[in-house]
Amino acid sequence: MPIDAILGCQWGDEGKGKIVDQLARDADWVARFQGGANAGHTVVCGGRQLVLHLVPTGILNPQVRCAIGNGVVLDPEALVEEIRYLEHELSLPLAGRLRISPFAHLVTPLSRAVESLSAQDSAIGTTKRGIGPAYMEKATRRGLRVEDLLAPAEWKEKLRVEWDALRRSVGADEGAFARAAGEGFETIAARLSEAASALAPMVCDVTDLLLSEDDRGAAIIAEGAQGAWLDVDHGTYPFVTSSNTTIGGVCTGLGIPPQRIRKVYGVVKAYTTRVGLGPFPTEFTGPEADRFRERAGEYGATTRRPRRCGWYDAVLSRRSCRLNGVTELVVTKADVLGEFATLKMAVGYRLSNEARAEVRGGNAGIPWFSAHWLERAIPQYREFQGWRAPLEACRSWDSLPPAARQYLEVLSEESQVPLGWVSIGPGREQVVRVTS
Ligand code: GDP
Ligand code: IMO
Ligand code: MG
Repeated sequence: MPIDAILGCQWGDEGKGKIVDQLARDADWVARFQGGANAGHTVVCGGRQLVLHLVPTGILNPQVRCAIGNGVVLDPEALVEEIRYLEHELSLPLAGRLRISPFAHLVTPLSRAVESLSAQDSAIGTTKRGIGPAYMEKATRRGLRVEDLLAPAEWKEKLRVEWDALRRSVGADEGAFARAAGEGFETIAARLSEAASALAPMVCDVTDLLLSEDDRGAAIIAEGAQGAWLDVDHGTYPFVTSSNTTIGGVCTGLGIPPQRIRKVYGVVKAYTTRVGLGPFPTEFTGPEADRFRERAGEYGATTRRPRRCGWYDAVLSRRSCRLNGVTELVVTKADVLGEFATLKMAVGYRLSNEARAEVRGGNAGIPWFSAHWLERAIPQYREFQGWRAPLEACRSWDSLPPAARQYLEVLSEESQVPLGWVSIGPGREQVVRVTS
């Protein structure tokens, strides 16, 4: 059975965790291929709310084994802490069910120090998890990888070289860098070595493992983090994360060829949210924004920051679904729209005359999907009658109110992808398979 991918098609927090948890009921393996502890995947299971950052969400299904691929940037201390948290919450040992690629690059307190001293965090509104500096180090070919942690004799020396290089790159003296890193070099080296001993037994050739498992017919899910519009190449650069969150990231971040991928599930909310800075054409403004956020519980799972909220943007979804080759759309949080008397959905853009003058020849839409043009895009909305009814108890497509079905059908048509599932509450059972 080939590999299926579950990808966010907006700006992250689409509810990927809940959908992975749902689809992993029939899976053998779930693998993360990019990002790091910037991800916050919330799953409500057995009445408890669990938040996963680095461990693939599939771990909540007891028959599933999980892998962290080479494309992930891994914070060893955060991972050890998360494994302990989950073992405590689930009352199950997890270490035997988790595999880690030796090629995954490390996020350390040094990465976080660079992020804060270079003010990258405030310019973009990052999660402050050291993600940008870790991918930066990877690209400089000086970065430290999981395999380096396994060679204790050389590890400390490598970390020292890295410490000095990073400290110089931000123009900090030893004291300032140690303050930004939270501790001095010796303490950090000792802490990381301790985490390394806990993780060492999980390290293996994840690419070979997944290819062999796929050969024998195992069901494998690639779990995305963030969303298409945060992709470092295709998103709203520079207001993006530092990895490829789109389909190509599955191949490079796990080491698997594209023809092994079968289904691509594109997860979107029935509206749009974004946390952090950057363009957001359909964003709500005024007091309705705060009211909606409260009602929808839109606060970041990783940072608790209030999420920016707005109408569903079918223009952006159409693009991200095409880019990812999405075969099935999964819409989450449809229940949250139940109180609106009328709903809006962006189905096109227009540019102001002034902005149009910038584009030679003019254009009805936008010339390309950059932050520059999205800042100037005026959404063209389609309006819908609201359904004014709770959806949380619905368990079949036919039991959804006609107005809700109509909204979702148009959402799928405008996004140009067939609708597969609709989620109507945070609970495991609150999901509807679309049957028409
Ligand atoms: P992820 O990062 O894509 O996994 O999404 P997050 O977990 O950060 O954010 C999604 C939030 O919505 C979580 O708190 C989920 O428990 C919640 N959620 C997921 N699906 C639904 C749904 O259909 N309805 C409601 N009301 N909440 C949902
Ligand atoms: P999940 O997996 C939403 C955003 C940050 C910031 C930008 C860069 O839960 O969907 P980074 O720390 O990655 O350098 O921050 O990306 N961001 C997310 N937004 N959900 C996420 O993950 C995100 N991970 C990063 O807010 O705008
Ligand atoms: Mg999230």
